Amino acid sequence: MAQGALPGFRDFYPEQFAERAYIMDVWRRVLRRYAFAEYDGPPLEPLDLYRKKSGDELVGQLYSFTDKGDRQVAMRPEMTPTFARMVAARANALRKPVRWFSVPQLFRYERQQKGRLREHFQLNVDIVGESAVTADAELLSIALDIMRELGFTSAGVKARVSDRRLLQALLTHAGASEDAMPAVFAVIDKLGREPAALSREKLDSIVGADVSGRIDSFLALENIDVLSSAYENIPEVAEHVERMRKYFEYLHALGFADWVTLDLSIVRGLAYYTGIVFELFDTAGEYRAICGGGRYDTLLDTLGGVDLPALGFGMGDVVVGELLRSRALIPATAPRTDYWVAGEDESLISTVMSIATQLRGRDKSVEYALKPQQLSRQLRSAVAAGASHAILLKHAQLDAGEVTVRDLAEGTERSVRLTELINSL
Ligand code: HAM
Repeated sequence: MAQGALPGFRDFYPEQFAERAYIMDVWRRVLRRYAFAEYDGPPLEPLDLYRKKSGDELVGQLYSFTDKGDRQVAMRPEMTPTFARMVAARANALRKPVRWFSVPQLFRYERQQKGRLREHFQLNVDIVGESAVTADAELLSIALDIMRELGFTSAGVKARVSDRRLLQALLTHAGASEDAMPAVFAVIDKLGREPAALSREKLDSIVGADVSGRIDSFLALENIDVLSSAYENIPEVAEHVERMRKYFEYLHALGFADWVTLDLSIVRGLAYYTGIVFELFDTAGEYRAICGGGRYDTLLDTLGGVDLPALGFGMGDVVVGELLRSRALIPATAPRTDYWVAGEDESLISTVMSIATQLRGRDKSVEYALKPQQLSRQLRSAVAAGASHAILLKHAQLDAGEVTVRDLAEGTERSVRLTELINSL
């Protein structure tokens, strides 16, 4: 029996490929509007690139092996380390801010679940060289513009935004110690994916019940104004609230106010984020995160020794595809074939080929029967192929330089001079 693809890997039959191409087309179209340039890097990288900065969760999911030259290598599980390395290597020569995007295929040995496969294509959009919060707003508006272009509205998709600096300041103010931060962040990152009682129990054991209670109450704040008034007299927190308020103001100016909500429990699993972070979700809560990203101001320094602020996001094709299918938002693809050329008998095959060649020379999509067939059979094949027109070649007509063009949708026919037909295209 023939073997199927490995678990978590996909075969893209033409129908699935068309869906993938549609998503990627929209990605590229929107990124052009925002004046981003496309790049790519190697699918195989030194294992160390991910060990340094991706975080334990991702490193545990690596497809890694020792190559024939005894190098420890890994299939790329994410694009950000490659991107950071590439930009760091040419940091001085590049015009800032760098605005680049890429659509790599990524590999992670994930536990099988809805919305998560072991390979996926991920749009990566990144900006380097700008620390102002205007850049954070520009970045998120790109992710939201893509969702809008795909046919979603703010009723169906929301961005949940937070800021690691703000969260850290709030945690410190609540009484959590510096040492406890990584453990507290890890618990907060899992909120919503773990039973609430278990998260609370973990928090209690890390910081004690009092601090844990305070953390619980500020995590529930979803309104930036409420947050502003609660902390306006606490400068070490207020400074970060103010940045968040500006962020909301800019997103409003960019036309996306309705799409964004404050959610301080958004931490992001990856280890390198340092500032504003966000994730996009369907409001029905049926699917996993559509997209995630944020600011990572120290990664270029860690990986390439250049001190440049950076921010970006990744949006996978898997959840986007599931959502589009469930909301019937994938447009039907247009007929693939423009002309089917059919000959009355076998002796016309060279003429069929020559006419097909002339039509293809005019950028038309053309097919014909590759073995001798009755004219009626050829016409059935033309219809099955979804061709919009058939060109019928008959000896009597050809002698006068004419062919019959049949409109296969309407069922109408007309005689035309072959030279006129070609020249009219
Ligand atoms: P991430 O949150 O790991 O971020 O992935 C971003 C998005 O990729 C997810 O929201 C999801 O749509 C998709 N995705 C991730 N893993 C899978 C999977 N196993 N199967 C299907 N889809 C998946 C990053 O990777 C960051 N490097 C993004 C980034 C770019 N941050 C800054 N620049």
